[in-house]
Amino acid sequence: MPESPRPRPLPSPRPQPRGFATDQVHAGADPDAASGARIPPIHLTAGFVFDSFDTAAARFAGDDDGYTYSRVGNPSHTALERRLAALEGGDDAILVGSGQAAVTVALLGVLAAGDRLLSSASLYEGSRGLFRDNFSRFGIGTDFVDTPTDVEAWRRAIRPTTRALFVESIPNPSNDLHDLAALADLAHEHGLPLVVDNTLATPYLLRPLEHGADVVVHSASKFLAGHGASLGGVVVVGGDHAWARRADMHPHLHEPSALLRGSSWTDAHGDAAYARFTRDLVAARLGPTISPVHAFLLQQGVETLSLRVAQHSRNALAVAQWLHAQPDVVDVGYPGLPGHPSHALAQQYLPRGAGSVFTVTLAGGTDAARAFVDALALVSHMTHLGDVRTLVLHPASTTHAHRTSAERAAAGVHDGTLRLSVGIEDVADVVADLARGLAAVRDALTAAPAA
Ligand SMILES: Cc1ncc(COP(=O)(O)O)c(C=O)c1O
Repeated sequence: MPESPRPRPLPSPRPQPRGFATDQVHAGADPDAASGARIPPIHLTAGFVFDSFDTAAARFAGDDDGYTYSRVGNPSHTALERRLAALEGGDDAILVGSGQAAVTVALLGVLAAGDRLLSSASLYEGSRGLFRDNFSRFGIGTDFVDTPTDVEAWRRAIRPTTRALFVESIPNPSNDLHDLAALADLAHEHGLPLVVDNTLATPYLLRPLEHGADVVVHSASKFLAGHGASLGGVVVVGGDHAWARRADMHPHLHEPSALLRGSSWTDAHGDAAYARFTRDLVAARLGPTISPVHAFLLQQGVETLSLRVAQHSRNALAVAQWLHAQPDVVDVGYPGLPGHPSHALAQQYLPRGAGSVFTVTLAGGTDAARAFVDALALVSHMTHLGDVRTLVLHPASTTHAHRTSAERAAAGVHDGTLRLSVGIEDVADVVADLARGLAAVRDALTAAPAA
């Protein structure tokens, strides 16, 4: 097992601007040089043979860009990394085994014991738990901004030890959008990077780097794959953060490293220091490697991303409008609807569509939610999102069950709240299934004895 994390070829420099749909099928993956196969093969191998003694030494020294070992790099990973870097408009991308791994790796590339993360309180429960329960054990504290749509609240929460800002472009599940450009400006005023989880938006709807973000992460298990057959995650690095000029903020990138024969990461790589450190020292060492099979499957999904996400968003708007008109529904948390508090930000940041994951709150609380979910025939009841199929989940009894009811209410999760991830089916069929659910709610509540 190679101890040296090097070498691994970096993705090509930022490509010539091409259309999104062109990049999603072409960027990063050339026909296989050996066989001519148009679809590059799955490189199922733990390691790579060195053709000579000197080649091995050169690869470990970083003087030769060939592969060494699949935890450190594999051509099936590189192809998808290049494609995702192109789609997000980034310089480099690091593929890992899940979205949770991507969040971990991206942030551990910045943070060390004694540092603090400043995060929106409105985020995926798994990320919140990671920061609160796991990072705290490494000596990394997290401050959560409870009113994250208020940029001044972020400003007040920045401490001398804050080292990164973290936000979701479309927060899961509450959809309370943030002004990303204002947050990026604030971060940069304080010499901090802005890290954005872009899972729910995908680069088709929103490219955070274009709004000033420095690092983008994804659960590729969701929309990027679409098929729901694989887990994966990616860290995309871009932006203009001055990694090389902020020795005060990022001392780990400025100290001499034995791996670099005494140079520092910034001496060796300039502003690419963060990307190289995160790839070579964090991802390769912690080892949340994706299987080449899953990298391949994710790549097949990415090729239809724009088509799927456009249809997801169209369907979601139609479903949200229909739900909004139903008497048993008290709230529909979809920012594409004019009455939603984030509607103006949705128009600004999400002109191609406001995504397809949102909450719907039923008047009858838990009993209504149970009757609704149990009556659905087409919609799948599961904890996942971004799948081509429409999915539903009751957060208060699952993802948010361990939180107090006051905390749940603050997160927009009430007893009657369901999270929908609207798929790409014929929307009339989705609506018909939801109508079946609402009819079951009426039946159940009428049949229930008065309290
Ligand atoms: C916004 C967001 N980020 C990250 C993750 C974690 O991704 P994974 O399940 O691939 O680890 C999820 C999972 O639902 C998510 O919704």
